[in-house]
Amino acid sequence: MTRTRVLTGITTSGTPHLGNYAGAIRPALEASRDPSVESFYFLADYHALIKVQDPARVQRSTLEIAASWLAAGLDPSQVWFYRQSDIPEIPELTWLLTCVAGKGILNRAHAYKAAVDKNREAGEDDDAGITAGLFMYPVLMAADILIFNADKVPVGRDQIQHIEMARDFGQRFNHLFGEHFTLPEAAIEAHVATLPGLDGRKMSKSYDNVIPLFAPREQLKKLIYSIVTDSRAPGEPKDAEASNVFQLYRAFASDAQAADMRRAFEAGIAWGEAKQALFERIDAEISPMREKYEALIAKPAEIEAILRDGAARLRARYATPLLAQLRDAVGLRDLSKASVAVSAQDEKPAPATFKQYRENDGTFYFKLVRGDRVLLQSAGFDAPREAGQRVAALKQAGRLDGDSSATLGDGVTRDEVDAALAQMAEPAE
Ligand code: TRP
Repeated sequence: MTRTRVLTGITTSGTPHLGNYAGAIRPALEASRDPSVESFYFLADYHALIKVQDPARVQRSTLEIAASWLAAGLDPSQVWFYRQSDIPEIPELTWLLTCVAGKGILNRAHAYKAAVDKNREAGEDDDAGITAGLFMYPVLMAADILIFNADKVPVGRDQIQHIEMARDFGQRFNHLFGEHFTLPEAAIEAHVATLPGLDGRKMSKSYDNVIPLFAPREQLKKLIYSIVTDSRAPGEPKDAEASNVFQLYRAFASDAQAADMRRAFEAGIAWGEAKQALFERIDAEISPMREKYEALIAKPAEIEAILRDGAARLRARYATPLLAQLRDAVGLRDLSKASVAVSAQDEKPAPATFKQYRENDGTFYFKLVRGDRVLLQSAGFDAPREAGQRVAALKQAGRLDGDSSATLGDGVTRDEVDAALAQMAEPAE
């Protein structure tokens, strides 16, 4: 069964807060437990460089976000968990996409346009202080998504445009160079909570109204007690729906607990008492994770090892073979193979060909054959795409190159296979 690939990126520019937890981390981890989903979670540290030019902060944020996801229950043996800058194929693909991306489309990107509008209002030059990084942001994001052929990308409304751009760039590339990319879809999570911050506006770092996810207990309590409320006295009925204390409570409570709290509001619960109940509810959910978080943060080398391992496995499995295929598709090819082709034309044996097929057990294979002689036999793959990518990578490499996903046929030498592959790597004409 081919699983649906769901991919999420988190920019490493801040400290995770309760809004990130309820709105992104918790729902994403719940969704990843679905066995029909293959989940990709990554730390978008190249994206962080667009807005943060403080190296210590990029590093700290990367550590905190990685530790937060792990503490919240992410299992790196079940999902792909990695750091963007550990996958060099992402910036390589960014350039290939840059060369098909319409500049006019990038001119219309919301983040870039907002920066231009701000400059105009201030009477400045349109592009004053705007880096090419901000302008190119959607291309980098498209590479994040397309390098793993993600099917679905859960995002907030502000990011829908970026997914549409990724589709557009992927489609243009496919049109020019063959079907290499899955066109991703945005998955909008309508029922996911948007939490109010301390001042009642949406909890967001840019409003400076956040409650850090792993604030120590005492600080958590202090922050919750500082939430702005109206001045209704104890005993006066209070409107639960309009209250940010209630909104926060509901995000961490069962339906039954929320219904009880709603009745307490109607009965005139004192603000102090409501805040105490809110603190206890949040702390009950967070404190077991907080312990794990603190243990993880104390061992940054372990987190580093987890991230590197994720990236290494992911590159070997998907990114490196796909990039080999893409380089070949656009014409970044080994010149020696083209010239050998011309001089050796006359003595060429009958060409070898790849055959892809499916066994009754639902597993996909390929073999390299010349007539009815089997030169190379692959191991089984879960998806035809994976087999196809290996085949493309072998053709591109023009030799076996330490590949362990296939074994030599009976009585076949490695040299014979290498020669057959080298021949296939030649241009068609
Ligand atoms: N731009 C996203 C944000 O600010 C983060 C991100 C980077 C991302 N690359 C991605 C999200 C790829 C989804 C897919 O939230």
